[in-house]
Amino acid sequence: MKKSILTLFLVLPLMSSLAADATLTIDATRPVAKVSPILYGLMTEEINYCYDGGLYAELVRNRAFLDDAATPVHWSAVQGSGSAVTIALDPGQPLNEAIPTSLRIDVSQASPAAPAGVANSGYWGIPVKPVTTYRASFYAKAEKGGASPVSLAIESEDGATIFAKAAVPGLTGDWRFYEVTLTTGKDATLTTKARLTLKMEHPGTVWLSLVSLFPPTWKDRANGLRPDLMQMLIDLKPSFLRFPGGNYLEGDTIATRFDWKKTLGPLSGRTGHPGPWHYRSTDGMGLLEFLLWCEDMNAEPVLGIYAGYSLKGEFVKPGPDLEPYVQDAFDEIEYVAGPVTSKWGAQRAKDGHPGPFKLRYVEIGNEDFLDHKGTYEGRFAQFFDAIKTKYPGLKCISTVGNEQPDKKRIHGRKPDVLDEHYYRSVNEFLKDSPAHFEKYDRSGPKIFVGEWAAYETAFVPWDKRSKGGPPTPDMKAALGDAAWMAAMERNSDLITMQCYAPLFVNVNEYQWRPNLIGYDALNSYGSPSYYAIRMFSNNVGDSILKSTFSEGTAIQGTVTRDSKTGVIYVKLVNPEPAARELAINLNGFHSVASAAEVETLSADLTATNSLADPAKVTPVKSTIQGVGASFPLTLQPYSITVLKLK
Ligand code: AHR
Repeated sequence: MKKSILTLFLVLPLMSSLAADATLTIDATRPVAKVSPILYGLMTEEINYCYDGGLYAELVRNRAFLDDAATPVHWSAVQGSGSAVTIALDPGQPLNEAIPTSLRIDVSQASPAAPAGVANSGYWGIPVKPVTTYRASFYAKAEKGGASPVSLAIESEDGATIFAKAAVPGLTGDWRFYEVTLTTGKDATLTTKARLTLKMEHPGTVWLSLVSLFPPTWKDRANGLRPDLMQMLIDLKPSFLRFPGGNYLEGDTIATRFDWKKTLGPLSGRTGHPGPWHYRSTDGMGLLEFLLWCEDMNAEPVLGIYAGYSLKGEFVKPGPDLEPYVQDAFDEIEYVAGPVTSKWGAQRAKDGHPGPFKLRYVEIGNEDFLDHKGTYEGRFAQFFDAIKTKYPGLKCISTVGNEQPDKKRIHGRKPDVLDEHYYRSVNEFLKDSPAHFEKYDRSGPKIFVGEWAAYETAFVPWDKRSKGGPPTPDMKAALGDAAWMAAMERNSDLITMQCYAPLFVNVNEYQWRPNLIGYDALNSYGSPSYYAIRMFSNNVGDSILKSTFSEGTAIQGTVTRDSKTGVIYVKLVNPEPAARELAINLNGFHSVASAAEVETLSADLTATNSLADPAKVTPVKSTIQGVGASFPLTLQPYSITVLKLK
């Protein structure tokens, strides 16, 4: 031990004479409880173009021509002087049953010098990066035994600049699959003002289906994920991922729920479905893609199981009517975690992942307190009994936490965990955080705060007016978030899991605000709340220490210790406009290094990050000296601070 850098003290009398605005006493002799090892996680659903137009790296929008029944939205005809073309949806030439329409392209005039065809504008542009290889693929057929080569290009919106190109030889009269790569040169400019084109050099009729373009993906996986967003998530060190929703699990109707069996296998077999957030999902992010996503983040799945209730009020009566849905949940569990010798485990192996995934938690439905017909009790009981009989090791999460936080039993069953959701104003969080969970009865189920976020203004996230605000929250919201996280961490004997929501937003169009991470087709950024969460989840021990603030202070916090390294993590939130001097008293410590690392996130209340200014509010690291039995720490105005004592 390097004694020179350590201040040694055996339970010394505390220096209470420090001139301070407030005191914090940390008691090492009394660990309050264990920190849940899976406290920090992520929640996800298809909202704000979170998968399509977001994490799922597909660049072509409306790739299967199913987004609109009348017109090929996001596609346009490409013609000019010396070329002419018309395009239309053609249900008469389907690729197959899953993709029951195609795009018909009638080229009436074209030549090698003046080709004609179609363009896709992507999700608010196709992102161009220099020296980058894109994988394009499509199904096509031509009228009467063939047509001219099809040339593909990533080009500027006006077609004047070609960033990358490739060609496939003549088509045949039958549907065939074509694949090419397109590579940009080193001079290609970074832009989203680009499109994908497919053009013909001779007159004729061609049909297209499932046109796809992928940039490089995380781990270079086909049908994969955006690397920049994946890295941001991995940096949060999530221990679990709750999927596939939220409302997205339930759908507006039973028919439009997340029907996991329809999301497996080749993309040509995935029809997609209308989502509850007013746009259609490709289902490119299917069940296996979610599981691979978990695996890549080293996070365990928290699997949302459709439980017979959809948002517009349709429900399945408990009893025999619900049995097929219970069986569907069994099949899903088997797909995720069953052996390859089982029917659905074998399907998973066929889909490319022989090994079972770890599965410990299933959530039965989503926000079923909204089922005003009161059928959840019966539905929950039926799922619970069936799952506990077949998979006794699985923990069942109930979704009625908000409605009945003290409810220990649902229809006679004690859920393992209750999911509670909190979307609240910053002021509500600041006011409620010091005592909210402290009041809970510890003999009830554990609590999963499966959705939470602070909003800055009087507009709540589901209020239409709130969408006038920026897609991601500002520093003020981060202060509310940090206070709430501190409350959950202090009570992590009870709050075993928690995750912010929503996770993602495409800044071009969104149905909800605030959201944690923003992006367009090319760039991404974390909100101040993202950095607050990163600071919290990266600095957590395994036991909670008793921490007491002096009366009347607005400062909030949480203290944990890592039993292996001995590091003490002190997290502090100063929601006030002035710097605050905090006298920290260490009670019952044998020794502490006189130098300590500090990480601070501090900014004006309305300061925020954006695509234009992605790092305006980011944490700053520093070191303080003079740490001892009692020592002062200055908290910046409007700040979140993590202090690491060794
Ligand atoms: O996160 C947005 C929505 O809020 C979720 O879909 C739903 O569960 C909640 O009401």
